Amino acid sequence: MTQRKPLIAGNWKMNKTCAEAMDTARTLVSLVSDVKDVEVMITPPFTALAQVADIIASTPVELGAQDVFWEDHGAYTGQVSAPMLVSAGCTYVIIGHSERRQYFNETDQTVNKKVKAAFAGGLAPVVCVGETEADRDAQKTFSVLDKQMDNGLEGLTVEIMANAVIAYEPVWAIGTGKTATPLQVQEVHAFLRSFLKQRFGDGIAGQIRILYGGSVKPGNAAELMALADVDGALVGGASLDAEIFSKIVHFGKA
Ligand code: PGA
Repeated sequence: MTQRKPLIAGNWKMNKTCAEAMDTARTLVSLVSDVKDVEVMITPPFTALAQVADIIASTPVELGAQDVFWEDHGAYTGQVSAPMLVSAGCTYVIIGHSERRQYFNETDQTVNKKVKAAFAGGLAPVVCVGETEADRDAQKTFSVLDKQMDNGLEGLTVEIMANAVIAYEPVWAIGTGKTATPLQVQEVHAFLRSFLKQRFGDGIAGQIRILYGGSVKPGNAAELMALADVDGALVGGASLDAEIFSKIVHFGKA
């Protein structure tokens, strides 16, 4: 079986001034300096990326952004491109988070353009998919996920997909304190893995990390990370405090 190094990613969302972000990053660096078998990544707001990059340089903590636009440059007021994110020190970018789908008109088609732009710019995309509570109640979980994956990853080659990360985030579990049960999580992750196998072949599908996100906390991280097809976590609220986030990073040692 392919060994996939777990990735624990912190999505800070629209939180923290530059000073607060630098402070949290400094504390986090000191708390996770011992970690070798887990990859750690944080996504501060755009405004704090470059300053946080300086703090985490030469540490194992990696930097990601929370979104990217699909053009490299031009008259697109308010947008930030992949080359800009790379120049600020990013190696990852979150794409298609449900909050962007819900509040900012993100669609599977814009997700697809952004994923392509991220790869072209040298960033590893963390592509988010997930069903709403209404989808789940209507037994549409798998058809919704299938569509998000199918359209979001349209036109991508096997070679390029080796660096992709998928994040399964059931919308009803984000910021609500309701975590999906281990059974629900593993069922969906196995479904996503089999989608990747069919689309890209067993080899690549075995390498791609599938993260779980939605109310991950120190108390439930170990159980979730132990599931066969769960290769890490995308953590929102619990990533804002370096000590709490560090406990999730150390999930195997609780
Ligand atoms: P949460 O958010 O951990 O606060 O539920 C997860 C996410 O939105 O990535």
